[in-house]
Amino acid sequence: MKPKAIVYSSNTGFTERYAKMFGEETGMPVFSLNEAAEKLKKGEEAIYFGWLMAGTVADYKKAAKLFDIKAVCGVCLGTTGSQIESVRKSCGLSYDFPIFTVQGGMDHAKLNGGYGFGIKMLTKFMSKKKNRTPDEDAMLELLIKGGDYVSKDNLKKVFEWYEKV
Ligand SMILES: Cc1cc2nc3c(=O)[nH]c(=O)nc-3n(C[C@H](O)[C@H](O)[C@H](O)COP(=O)(O)O)c2cc1C
Repeated sequence: MKPKAIVYSSNTGFTERYAKMFGEETGMPVFSLNEAAEKLKKGEEAIYFGWLMAGTVADYKKAAKLFDIKAVCGVCLGTTGSQIESVRKSCGLSYDFPIFTVQGGMDHAKLNGGYGFGIKMLTKFMSKKKNRTPDEDAMLELLIKGGDYVSKDNLKKVFEWYEKV
């Protein structure tokens, strides 16, 4: 059965844009997690969009306690489709649970204090990492220079899933 709403959590705005893009195409209402907690009924069927934080999807567990999450879309620095297994493990999701990742971006100006420090550490770690994969190289470039990779094309697989359920 199709989810009835889109719930998202966004730190610097990339995830919010993806959630709204998905809402525009599908006609589903879109709520930030805080809004959803007030306006949606508990247990409502929803798709959750959240930004990737150290390999997990921020606030997924909070969202899953409130709503019946039918699919997860993580917005990340890595390329679209990367880090799926890491999300599956860290969110405790089964092998048949639909998980998608889409490339978002990095806006240093919008990062607040604590997260700015997290990005500094991640940049340091990635710069020193030997034998980086092409995905890790792409991530490092975004970490250093910033950038915006939001595009409807990245949501292709999520749209395909939505059409089928
Ligand atoms: C503390 C921190 C940790 C992050 N960890 C990851 C990560 O593990 N993998 C990844 O691809 N991106 C990671 N990112 C990047 C964000 O997921 C990415 O910038 C995303 O587009 C942010 O979405 P938002 O604008 O909705 O907050 C991290 C960002 C921060 C601030």
